[in-house]
Amino acid sequence: MEATENIVLEAQEEAQGAESSRALYEIKMKFLGRTGKVTALLKGMREIPANERPAFGKKVNDIREKLEALFAALEERMKEKELAEKLAGEEIDVTMPARRHQKGALHPITRTKSELIDIFAGMGFEVFEGPEIENEYYNFTALNTPADHPARDMQDTFYITEEFLLRTQTSAGQIRLMEKKKPPIKMLSPGKVFRSDDDATHSPMFHQMEGLVVDKNITMCDLQGMLNEFARTMFAESSKTRLRPSYFPFTEPSVEVDVSCTACGGKGCSLCKGTGWIEVLGAGMVNRHVLENCGVDPDEYTGFAFGMGIERIAMLKYGINHIRSFTENDVRFLEEFKD
Ligand code: PHE
Repeated sequence: MEATENIVLEAQEEAQGAESSRALYEIKMKFLGRTGKVTALLKGMREIPANERPAFGKKVNDIREKLEALFAALEERMKEKELAEKLAGEEIDVTMPARRHQKGALHPITRTKSELIDIFAGMGFEVFEGPEIENEYYNFTALNTPADHPARDMQDTFYITEEFLLRTQTSAGQIRLMEKKKPPIKMLSPGKVFRSDDDATHSPMFHQMEGLVVDKNITMCDLQGMLNEFARTMFAESSKTRLRPSYFPFTEPSVEVDVSCTACGGKGCSLCKGTGWIEVLGAGMVNRHVLENCGVDPDEYTGFAFGMGIERIAMLKYGINHIRSFTENDVRFLEEFKD
């Protein structure tokens, strides 16, 4: 009987010291479980004289009820405590400022390229993209550039094998398109080109925008008319163009095209070195040999072609001084082109 009294005290003491529901459960099993102390008391009944058994049995039952109530109360308290701890650990500070998302912007080259496409698409040009790896035929031979022409020099061209090279000009696209499509043609061909060249205004990889128009009765007037439209939309309403005689193997006659200075408007400044003009592109009437190479009859059709550096146009339009700015990926530079 005495031993039974102590069980209650013992259980109370141990259970109150429990620090988690798991520990509490283990203590509960130590007393009320199948091999627990209270169960052991019941099992020991047989050793008790028969006349004392009812009283003993009642006593043990009382103890069990007491302990069950004790553990139920402690379990409840423990659950509340653990929930409170869990919630405290998950607390969110809703007043904390949110992380800012950086908004991206189109690269100035992509942007200039799109602007050019918009301008010429408005005049009915279609976009055609040729491959960056070309062979000598499309990059040179078909463009009336014979094997001994200085443009083929290893110093200018990145050769991959004897035959294949990184295209040095988007003009290769003229041939690829004319092989596929009969005139009338109004093609715009943007893309990367590669030359062994590297200084403040030249980079070994840059972008060009090629234009090609082939139809009946196309003249140099059509060329200059379209280029004027381009200059007015790209730079300023008052922009003008000027054609100067030049030479390209694939155009005859050939011209260099200047626009009135984008900085001073033509008065003369340091950018245009006092001339009032800035060179922006090469162009000319498609050489009859080039038309013949593509199966187009030069006595029936004529055409013009032009090729401009997209970097150069972007540098003039946005006042960028160094071509390397385009490839350095300096976020401060790129951020200036956010809308
Ligand atoms: N392909 C020439 C260059 O890279 C530019 C050009 C294109 C000239 C079309 C005339 C006609 O410099």
